[in-house]
Amino acid sequence: MPEWLSTSIHAGAARIRYTRSLTRIPVRTSSRSYEVVVERGLLRSASALLQGLVPSHAKTFLVSSEPILKLWGIPLTESFSAGGRHVALLEMPDGETSKKLRTVERLAEKMVKLGADRRSVVVALGGGVVGDVAGFLASSFMRGIPVVQIPTTLVAQVDSAIGGKTGVNLVSGKNLMGAFHQPLAVLADPDVLSTLPDREFRSGLFESMKYGVIRNRQIFDLLETHRDALLRRDPELLAQLIVECVKVKADVVSADERENGERKILNFGHTVGHALESATNYKHFLHGEAVGWGMIAAAVIGESIGVTESDTAQRIIAIVLAYGSLPTVDVGTRRILKLLQSDKKTMGGVPHFVLATGIGKVEVVNTVPESAVVKSVDEIKRLSKAR
Ligand SMILES: NC(=O)c1ccc[n+]([C@@H]2O[C@H](COP(=O)([O-])OP(=O)(O)OC[C@H]3O[C@@H](n4cnc5c(N)ncnc54)[C@H](O)[C@@H]3O)[C@@H](O)[C@H]2O)c1
Ligand SMILES: [Zn+2]
Repeated sequence: MPEWLSTSIHAGAARIRYTRSLTRIPVRTSSRSYEVVVERGLLRSASALLQGLVPSHAKTFLVSSEPILKLWGIPLTESFSAGGRHVALLEMPDGETSKKLRTVERLAEKMVKLGADRRSVVVALGGGVVGDVAGFLASSFMRGIPVVQIPTTLVAQVDSAIGGKTGVNLVSGKNLMGAFHQPLAVLADPDVLSTLPDREFRSGLFESMKYGVIRNRQIFDLLETHRDALLRRDPELLAQLIVECVKVKADVVSADERENGERKILNFGHTVGHALESATNYKHFLHGEAVGWGMIAAAVIGESIGVTESDTAQRIIAIVLAYGSLPTVDVGTRRILKLLQSDKKTMGGVPHFVLATGIGKVEVVNTVPESAVVKSVDEIKRLSKAR
């Protein structure tokens, strides 16, 4: 792989189709205001979209991993070279295990060797792993240079690329080192999702459901009504879903950049979800799958303490199961309780639960009795074995 790229990467790039319907969704935070641009086929016009944001003479460092570059590297680098931009490739290994400080250090050393300076720009092409690593690299390289996020998984397009959370894992735990570093722009091309493995795609659909429950019942209705078409990745519906989810994330982050208040609602399904991931050493569930079970657990908890009406709880449970197949839940209930108490988002040993008060409305509750949590974990175990 050549280090300085202007025209070519690997053979075998995926084909992009065109339609012109570009949506720009603003994110306004105190540290930066920027746009999330959603458009089918935008990978090919990425360079033009950055006009005015990134000077064409700025050294641009493209961070990505081999499988993503093989599929989508060519259209992006062609767009950069057509726009007269010189792009240096920073390849990192694929997968969660590469989300660590050592990777950031290696990429930074390489940037220095390639002549990076304070006016350089990082472009992240990939899923949440690449986005989190590249974002953290940019947040700390020479005390901070800009990053453009080009998310290529559904999780990244609706969630991780937006909002400025960046970071890496420590051996002691996930996402324990990091920084808030808002991107210059987020460019989301729904067509790149055509090559995502099925499990990864569904994982993103569970995160999308979350937005329906917390803020926007139209998202929930869309998922209920168009299950088959969405699972087939109908391009127009998918683009619509992404736009609606991004709007929710952008709104919530704009209201609360640092998760002091409202941003907590984004953790719907994540309290039990994180505990499931941690109990299985992040090997058994994809993040969205754990969130799927976590949303069911939140529905059961909400119903059992009288916050969530039965109809609402049943709709949440039904939609998660309709988009399964979810991996079996085979974890000790005690272990989950313990993990909930040590979660980094827990305050003083009291887990906070985001619970639905309707479809599109949630509240944060920190008085959930242990018995309700036990019931919910038993229920997800039962459901997972009944399938
Ligand atoms: N920063 C945040 O706010 C935030 C929010 C949610 C999740 N995250 C983080 O995101 C990470 C998970 O991200 P993810 O779910 O995107 O996983 P990922 O980045 O590991 O990507 C999953 C797999 O899909 C492949 N892939 C990516 N795009 C593809 C494409 N278009 N076609 C085919 N294959 C493709 C990747 O190579 C990888 O093997 C976790 O580390 C999580 O902590 C961060
Ligand atoms: Zn999540």
